[in-house]
Amino acid sequence: MEFDVKNLNETQIYKLMISTIVPRPIAWVSTVSKNGIFNIAPFSFYMGISSSPPLIAISIGKKDDDRKKDTWKNIEEVGDFVINIVTYDLVEKMNITASPFDESIDEFKEANLTPIKSDLVNSPRIAESPINIECKKFMILEIADMGLIFGEILKFHIKDQLLNEKGYVDNKKLKVVGRLGGADYCLVDESNIFNLIRPDLKKR
Ligand SMILES: Cc1cc2nc3c(=O)[nH]c(=O)nc-3n(C[C@H](O)[C@H](O)[C@H](O)COP(=O)(O)O)c2cc1C
Repeated sequence: MEFDVKNLNETQIYKLMISTIVPRPIAWVSTVSKNGIFNIAPFSFYMGISSSPPLIAISIGKKDDDRKKDTWKNIEEVGDFVINIVTYDLVEKMNITASPFDESIDEFKEANLTPIKSDLVNSPRIAESPINIECKKFMILEIADMGLIFGEILKFHIKDQLLNEKGYVDNKKLKVVGRLGGADYCLVDESNIFNLIRPDLKKR
């Protein structure tokens, strides 16, 4: 099958994009509003941009009533956020935080999660997540109906037992979850991780 985008409607394009751009990492973003209300939401249109400076980007849309999603608004107004890693044991709670709660609702309470203070930013970290990444707003690009949020990483919090001697997080232990199309997700664990060494051109 071939699909010329100009013949597709918005939903068809969305369905093809979210099932071909896979697997996607999930930024589980915790923020605080200027009124002090804690918020959490997952976003999978998310990527690393650069390690020097350490930049990431997250694409956040608008609500049905055309207002910016709470995460976007909080980052714009307060200037920082925390990315928490979603592991398999946290998927149900992550899913609760994807609900369109009113901005006056504390989503830590709704999902029964524990906020802990960050060291360098105002936004809280999620205690139950084994990795929290403190970020400050770098810039926000408004493209069509989306806010492309660029964040600069200020600090990583990683549970000791997850780090290996080479300085990597051991993904066999982490059990991170990724997003696929529709309601499908994938789990990364020892059963599906494999090793691929790059060819050495000098030896060919
Ligand atoms: C796994 C997952 C990934 C998502 N990715 C995005 C995304 O990349 N961009 C987006 O705007 N919404 C995304 N959503 C929907 C938001 O999480 C949802 O609209 C949420 O209610 C926004 O909350 P907020 O208004 O508190 O920011 C995703 C939902 C799920 C479950």
